[in-house]
Amino acid sequence: MIELLCQISQVLDREDKLKVLLILFLFLVGGCLEVIGIGIILPYLALLLNPENFEGYVLLKKLYSVLIDYQIISNLNGFYIFLTALVIFFYWLKNLFFIFSLRFQIRFNYEIYRRLSSNLLSKYLKESYLNHINRNTSEIIKNINQQTLDLVQAFLFPILILISECLIVLLLLVFLLFINPLSSLYVFTLLGLTVVVIFMCIRKRLHFSGEAISRSRTEANKQVLQGLGSFKTTKILNKEAFFIQRFNSAISDMTTARRYYELSQNLPRFFLETAIVTVMLSLAMLMLFNGKPTRELILTLSIFGMSGMRLMPSMNRILNALNSTRYSQGIVKSLMHDLLIANFKGSQTSISDGAQPIKNFESLKLDNVHFSYTATAQTLNNLSLTIDANKSIGIVGHSGSGKSTLIDIMLGLLDPDVGEIRVNNKLLLDVKESWQQLIGYIPQDIYLSDDTIKANVAFGIEKNEIDDKQLALVLKTAQLEDLINGLKEGVDTIIGERGIKISGGQRQRIGIARALYHNPQILVMDEATAALDNVTEHEFMQAINKLKGRKTLIMIAHRITTVKNCDIIYVIENGYIIDKGSYQELSSSSKVFKTLAQL
Ligand SMILES: Nc1ncnc2c1ncn2[C@@H]1O[C@H](COP(=O)(O)OP(=O)(O)OP(=O)(O)O)[C@@H](O)[C@H]1O
Ligand SMILES: [Mg+2]
Repeated sequence: MIELLCQISQVLDREDKLKVLLILFLFLVGGCLEVIGIGIILPYLALLLNPENFEGYVLLKKLYSVLIDYQIISNLNGFYIFLTALVIFFYWLKNLFFIFSLRFQIRFNYEIYRRLSSNLLSKYLKESYLNHINRNTSEIIKNINQQTLDLVQAFLFPILILISECLIVLLLLVFLLFINPLSSLYVFTLLGLTVVVIFMCIRKRLHFSGEAISRSRTEANKQVLQGLGSFKTTKILNKEAFFIQRFNSAISDMTTARRYYELSQNLPRFFLETAIVTVMLSLAMLMLFNGKPTRELILTLSIFGMSGMRLMPSMNRILNALNSTRYSQGIVKSLMHDLLIANFKGSQTSISDGAQPIKNFESLKLDNVHFSYTATAQTLNNLSLTIDANKSIGIVGHSGSGKSTLIDIMLGLLDPDVGEIRVNNKLLLDVKESWQQLIGYIPQDIYLSDDTIKANVAFGIEKNEIDDKQLALVLKTAQLEDLINGLKEGVDTIIGERGIKISGGQRQRIGIARALYHNPQILVMDEATAALDNVTEHEFMQAINKLKGRKTLIMIAHRITTVKNCDIIYVIENGYIIDKGSYQELSSSSKVFKTLAQL
């Protein structure tokens, strides 16, 4: 718990910590107001019970004579009315203060939630590609949407409540000790014991409930994403029941845990109420049998009754907060690791290239590059190659030979385990950002968003900043004109999630247009034309060939004819470059190339 709090304090900034201090100060003021609220009832009641006797209450006596002197009141009845109005006014003020304080707390909590969850998303977006591929989308969605909210609602907020209520209870204890030490000790010992016993009974299972919820949330998200993600396959294979059953089992784990948590949040109130009534009535009996006069008995009981009215919700909230923090520890723990890195990374947002960003691409040089995704299998071995500006490079090889991995290395998405990559003779690591800005990349699996064609092509650009001329040009190059002319809404047609409302080839062409939109100096195409029919591919390649000599082209293709016009073609096999040369040279010399050409 302490460790978690330390970790949380690391993810809060200075301003947040100041706000926490301010909130604690508000709690202290609130606690004092609460005690004063009960405290002023005592003389008020004393006066009502014994109007003639002001003796024990010097202040009241003074106030009375001052009011009479200034002719604000003329008799005791006026004094009653004045005091009643004063008490009512004080309670209004006190509760207005609490409303203000609560508003501030809630705003603070949600501000932290907003910041932490967007920090987390920024961390997931900025982390290395290698880390990213080892993550699970269900886990990411859970952490950003649900767990951060829990951190705030079920951990941070309850901790503040815990502090605030403990303060109030402590101040009440001091006040009551002052009024009647023995009775106070009796009341607080019994009520304190009740809280401890209730908490001890449920704490262990609560912790496991939190962990179970965290686990089952990931599982439930996963089943939704996977079942719907492969919708057609799920339908064709009739596997709906399979996903529903798995989802059900995850949700039922979650509901069991939630049920226990909610019960533990609501049950204590009943025990507490019983405990308070028992304690108060037994106190009355004790006082009665000890021969206390009725007036004193009524007065003490009234004060303890008032305190009890305040203590009951306080104790309940203390227990709820204890339960809640206990329960959410399991949730918060799993999130803290990512949040801590998020905070660290957040402070050094987007590593820029320093003083020497590259503007014009001259050459890319890979020297003895090795790379492996896992410790067991080597994916790229001893790769060395140089790509000069405005040349066209083809990369061919069997499926799984390492072509896409090689591209990822060139793009700076993956860092080699051994070897060096230089762009314009500068280490790629030092110029990564400006290097990536020169590249138009068409990945093997294009992800389109549920938006218009226009927004998908001008990816990540605000609507009003899109260059319509450039848009029209790239749509033409990507052979998309016919499609768009046939659509009622043209470039403003929404293409659905992952581009589900258009064909595979059309999706690929939008990916191509997207890569061309920024007018990149280097165009990297990973099987960019694989989903196109021969005629469309031929037309697209003609357009691309027109770029030859003006742009650097790096293309992977399984159809050898696609790379036919490249200046140099590399043949990759098991992560090694086994051959290189022009199409003609390789056609006669390379065995692997020949087998690929025959496919
Ligand atoms: N994230 C990963 N973790 C572990 N291994 C991976 C990962 N991604 C790819 N691999 C492995 O690395 C090897 C090279 O994969 P790569 O995607 O580079 O092949 P490719 O030549 O592009 O194949 P294709 O023509 O089918 O696209 C494969 O054996 C693949 O199984
Ligand atoms: Mg590939």
